[in-house]
Amino acid sequence: MVAATDTATAFVEFDRVQKSYDGETLVVKDLNLSMPKGEFLTMLGPSGSGKTTCLMMLAGFETATHGEIRLDGKEINNIPPHKRGIGMVFQNYALFPHMSVAENLAFPLEVRKIGKSDREAKIKRALDMVQMGDFAGRRPAQLSGGQQQRIALARALVFEPELVLMDEPLGALDKQLRETLQFEITKLAHDLGITVVYVTHDQTEALTMSDRVAVFDDGRIQQLAKPDTLYEAPENSFVAQFIGENNTLEGTVQNIQGDRCEVRLDDGEVIDAKPVNVSSVGERTKVSIRPERVETNRDRLQEGAHTLKAEVLEFIYMGDIFRTRLRVAGKDDFIVKTRNAPDQARLQPGQQVEIGWLPEDCRALDA
Ligand SMILES: Nc1ncnc2c1ncn2[C@@H]1O[C@H](COP(=O)(O)OP(=O)(O)OP(=O)(O)O)[C@@H](O)[C@H]1O
Ligand SMILES: [Mg+2]
Repeated sequence: MVAATDTATAFVEFDRVQKSYDGETLVVKDLNLSMPKGEFLTMLGPSGSGKTTCLMMLAGFETATHGEIRLDGKEINNIPPHKRGIGMVFQNYALFPHMSVAENLAFPLEVRKIGKSDREAKIKRALDMVQMGDFAGRRPAQLSGGQQQRIALARALVFEPELVLMDEPLGALDKQLRETLQFEITKLAHDLGITVVYVTHDQTEALTMSDRVAVFDDGRIQQLAKPDTLYEAPENSFVAQFIGENNTLEGTVQNIQGDRCEVRLDDGEVIDAKPVNVSSVGERTKVSIRPERVETNRDRLQEGAHTLKAEVLEFIYMGDIFRTRLRVAGKDDFIVKTRNAPDQARLQPGQQVEIGWLPEDCRALDA
């Protein structure tokens, strides 16, 4: 399921990497990942899925139990952290509280034996990059959360690393500040041409910031793809559920031919779907349909659309869109999202309707 590694252009590579902390359970099971220079890649996944562990192995604070990690073609398993040329930003900022902002930024430069005048120029440049040029003399405690995170970012960038790792850097900030910094971080990364491995469990953040997203679960990459592919073409039920909102109908494969299959839903209804990871008749499947791909207005149905009877349970007016909950195929949690348009009906609870979708928008995934 992981994209084939292209060793020739890879800047960061995980090659069959496993990690166990206790010698028994593997928390990273078989990680293969290959990133070109300049890419912004996000590791997204639920708590405990192994994201931080992967970042720590790449940074050199943890060692891989098996496999190889390569940076720019060189194996780095035995290179100490400060010699890897990697900048790091953590969720809790991890600034040195007894040092001023300038001293915090000087630290990674001193470790790398950079002379005083050079240091001052680099610190000024890094602070200007994050618009904190006036704060060099302050202590971390005299800064707001967002300002501290900007300093942490400047400290990670000050020695001009080619690779920057960020572990939930915006997790402690409020929504608005998070969105501002999301934009600033991606812009900085692209302007400076640095390669970024970013960790989050916020899927919107992952989709909006990244060139590619690796969806983690249970120590494995479930899918590694561009944001639109991940959302529109999830390869398995976990990814379909984890990324965005998703309707799931359960059933059994009744017939497969090429890129179409028939699925008998558990209430007896038969629908057409696109077989994604089902391969044989009789197999159980979860059929996945995005809420915005469902049409409730018969006049708008495209040719070839499949229709099903449904009962409206709830209608929520959200301004730009309508969010309608329906009973479909015996399930009460079927969601349809429609754009607020003059010809789009505002359905009433209790109403019986016919809904429809195209078979190619209906993906038969693993059960
Ligand atoms: N130092 C450690 N010693 C033992 N087990 C650890 C250690 N660090 C992490 N683990 C375990 O490894 C697994 C993966 O943890 P990890 O921190 O990589 O997850 P994560 O995906 O970053 O989760 P979160 O979103 O909560 O930060 C978890 O089961 C965790 O309990
Ligand atoms: Mg973590």
